[in-house]
Amino acid sequence: MSEKTNLPVPAHVAIIMDGNGRWAKARGLPRLAGHHAGTKNLRPIIRAAADAGIKYLTFFAFSTENWNRPEEEVEGLMALLSEFLETELQEMHKEGARFLHIGHLDGLAPSLRKKIEDAIELTRENERIDVILAFNYGGRDEIICAVKKLIEAGTPAEAVDVKAMSDAMFTAGTPDPDIVIRTSGEKRTSNFLTWQTVYSEWFFPEVFWPDFSEEDLLKILAEYSKRDRRFGGLSKK
Ligand code: FPP
Repeated sequence: MSEKTNLPVPAHVAIIMDGNGRWAKARGLPRLAGHHAGTKNLRPIIRAAADAGIKYLTFFAFSTENWNRPEEEVEGLMALLSEFLETELQEMHKEGARFLHIGHLDGLAPSLRKKIEDAIELTRENERIDVILAFNYGGRDEIICAVKKLIEAGTPAEAVDVKAMSDAMFTAGTPDPDIVIRTSGEKRTSNFLTWQTVYSEWFFPEVFWPDFSEEDLLKILAEYSKRDRRFGGLSKK
């Protein structure tokens, strides 16, 4: 429950930050300018989420399919992550955010990989909010990796259940998202947290990610508090 509003607060909010390209196009700017503006929006949204009492916040920043974009854009996104860690990490650390990564670090440049690993290590003990970056991440790939892990560990078939699978995911230890937000009005899941979102509440605000504001987040939280989550059962209301 939120102390301010007395409404239920979701533990985990996951965000597909869509619409950077269209945000830039609408201003006659190159796509990378949109990604830059999108990166700048991370800090206020992380702060707003922490203030609202959200304990886990996941951002989809680079999918396993995003390698198919032009080299310039891929390199630009890598550079933006690097810059984000250089400029924002200390502040996030001071504010009690724990930085986590899901996806594959191999495949990234060694210097970027090191920065991500250092960020995870620096913020390891923080408890206010987990900021989880899905970078070089794909939901199907994660499920395949989990199955391989179980096979490699010699798990007998009868021991493969939802808990065993969840524990083998990159997200082990993090509760499934209560809310997934995809900005820009597009309504697709795009290989994001495929295993974890089966009972998530989805929201599709008609705003490009760089313009998504604290007010938009609070509106979604208010709407969420009215939804009746049944998890396949019957309403308790
Ligand atoms: C989707 O918009 C957005 C992405 C593929 C990348 C999201 C990345 C950021 C917001 C910045 C990266 C953040 C870090 C920390 C690296 P789109 O490009 O598909 O937009 P469009 O559909 O309008 O073209």
